[in-house]
Amino acid sequence: MKERRILLVIGGGIAAYKCLDLIRRLREEGASLRAVLTRAATHFVTPLSVAALTNEKAFTDLFDLNDEHEIGHIRLSREADLIIIAPATADLLAKMAGGHADDLASTILLATDKPVLAAPAMNPRMWLNPATRRNVAQLEADGIRFVGPNTGEMAERDEAGPGRLAEVPEIIAAARKVLAEQRSVTPLRTGRPLAGRHVIVTSGPTHEPIDPVRYIANRSSGKQGHAIAKAAAAFGARVTLVAGPVMLPDPPGVRVVHIETAEQMLQAVETSLPADVAVFAAAVADWRLASAPDEKIKKTGRAPALDLVENPDILATIAKRGAQRPDLVIGFAAETGDVAASAASKRKAKGADWIVGNDVSPENGIFGGDSNSVHLVTEKGIEDWPSMSKDAVAERLMLRAAEYLRTRTAAAE
Ligand code: CTP
Repeated sequence: MKERRILLVIGGGIAAYKCLDLIRRLREEGASLRAVLTRAATHFVTPLSVAALTNEKAFTDLFDLNDEHEIGHIRLSREADLIIIAPATADLLAKMAGGHADDLASTILLATDKPVLAAPAMNPRMWLNPATRRNVAQLEADGIRFVGPNTGEMAERDEAGPGRLAEVPEIIAAARKVLAEQRSVTPLRTGRPLAGRHVIVTSGPTHEPIDPVRYIANRSSGKQGHAIAKAAAAFGARVTLVAGPVMLPDPPGVRVVHIETAEQMLQAVETSLPADVAVFAAAVADWRLASAPDEKIKKTGRAPALDLVENPDILATIAKRGAQRPDLVIGFAAETGDVAASAASKRKAKGADWIVGNDVSPENGIFGGDSNSVHLVTEKGIEDWPSMSKDAVAERLMLRAAEYLRTRTAAAE
């Protein structure tokens, strides 16, 4: 935490008093702090005590012209390495998910490009309400990190369940993790290095029907593929995302083709060609039923034998596509053993230019998790990338792709 700058956004909830301890502990660890209180938060803690503990002015009002003059909301966010929201109330999360900016806290959260860690605290029924579930899922997809809430007794009598603010050491441990990942992120460069390019991305699992109600699937969440589509669009590319069944919202500014099976995925990729870059991040089911019956298979006391055939390899098919082959073909290799070696042999076998190898051993929590630890295998060899968020992997990969295309175009001219 030494010399890291943290902007703490304090929401209006009964747990807000714990922020005072959080501020003290973070400062003990060497971090410098600034704090913003929502109007509701000032009913639970006073700006005066927050100011005393942070040793800085406590910020409350967007329209305080003096503040805007001295230090505007953009500067507040720019001069921080991390924003922590504690307690993150249901209302603050809803505002963030909806992109509102009607007070200082929400304006900072909408304007920032810094990592944001939210520590929610609210009544369990509010936390479990479908509206809050939706907002949290949206914010997770947007890259907001969460710590807690914990389950336990509430301040109200006879209320228990998920909704307690994470303990101060838990919030600090989560903050440390986000900051460590952040160090390894390629700084997001301005400009649109993929402008004028078409990028195709496959993402998520495929579902192969066994009968009309059952299917073969896998644990892929689609987070990495969707993050790549989002990063490519942010860098100015026209993006086609061919997505299997996932629980993620469609990334903004991206054409999304929703498919279920491997055969549909291949067809969607083929009809989207030509492209400059194709990234195959989907976890395609290796097999499908030779022929799935139209009617539900009945239980008869004997388990049915499933006659499986291999699915087409989408990456290998597109990589051998002759004139229509994209300039840069990137595959993923989900491995559990010697990741770098398997990725390198997959690169050759499938005809990809690059392979991103990742270790999906269950103890790494890659499947469904937010971070990724990858090796990039190119024609030049193997690079080990430090563990970083899936968004950071996506940005770094797309910047590398832009660089590759630029050099190739320059060489051709
Ligand atoms: N892939 C594909 N079509 C398939 C299978 C895989 O496009 N039918 C792509 C994946 O999107 C990924 C790469 O190939 O980019 C490697 O996927 P992976 O599952 O690691 O490899 P497999 O070929 O399935 O080999 P194995 O599971 O035996 O390791």
